[in-house]
Amino acid sequence: VPVVAIVVAAGSGSRLGAAVPKALVPVAGVPLVTRAIERLAEGGVGEVIVVVPAAEREAFVEVLASAPVPVIWVDGGAERQDSVANGLAALPDLDEADAEGQVVLVHDAARAFVPAEVVARVIEAVRAGADAVVPAVPVSDTVRELTDTGSVVVDRARLRAVQTPQGFRRGLLEDAHAALYETRMTVTDDAAAAEYIGCDVVLVEGSRDAFKVTDPFDLVVAEAIAARGEP
Ligand code: C5P
Repeated sequence: VPVVAIVVAAGSGSRLGAAVPKALVPVAGVPLVTRAIERLAEGGVGEVIVVVPAAEREAFVEVLASAPVPVIWVDGGAERQDSVANGLAALPDLDEADAEGQVVLVHDAARAFVPAEVVARVIEAVRAGADAVVPAVPVSDTVRELTDTGSVVVDRARLRAVQTPQGFRRGLLEDAHAALYETRMTVTDDAAAAEYIGCDVVLVEGSRDAFKVTDPFDLVVAEAIAARGEP
């Protein structure tokens, strides 16, 4: 049973100010979504479901014409969570035992430079029995939390910034998204969805390279990473 990754690429990416969807923005000539899928394949993913803006599907199909793994295409939803749910609904049919235990990753196309070792680490932790696996990195800034009257400092040593790909057993991730749908609960990542149905979230070491390309500053960093080559 192949490890499958749902790659969410259906955001508008308006913060980037590009004329095309963010995932199609080239860095050193190679679109972000292409880079993301290459890294996933290198890390052990055997099949991808790419969730794209409905109106842009053809442009994506063209860009991924020679993807290193089979691609299933799905239209995105209003929020990231809806896009992931659409991806889950498109998972290939397997017999029940295989489906329940299949390793499913969810990855932001915008985290195009995730090292293959991080992908492999997440898969390995799911195989070792973890419910929900999240790559995470320490936070270098001191962080203050806004309150009704001002702000309070937060103990930086206890903070972690969360990245993708996040890994799950398929049955569990399906249950988590079904629960969110039923209760109209909103979350910003899939580990929070798993936590919502009572699962423990296991952290593994992420990488600064797995940062999410969001604004023009990030594109400068992305170009520099592409010029540097493999970590
Ligand atoms: O908006 P944000 O940067 O948090 O989005 C994270 C990822 O989720 C991006 O790769 C984006 O394309 C994807 N997304 C999506 N569908 C949406 C919103 C975001 O697939 N409706």
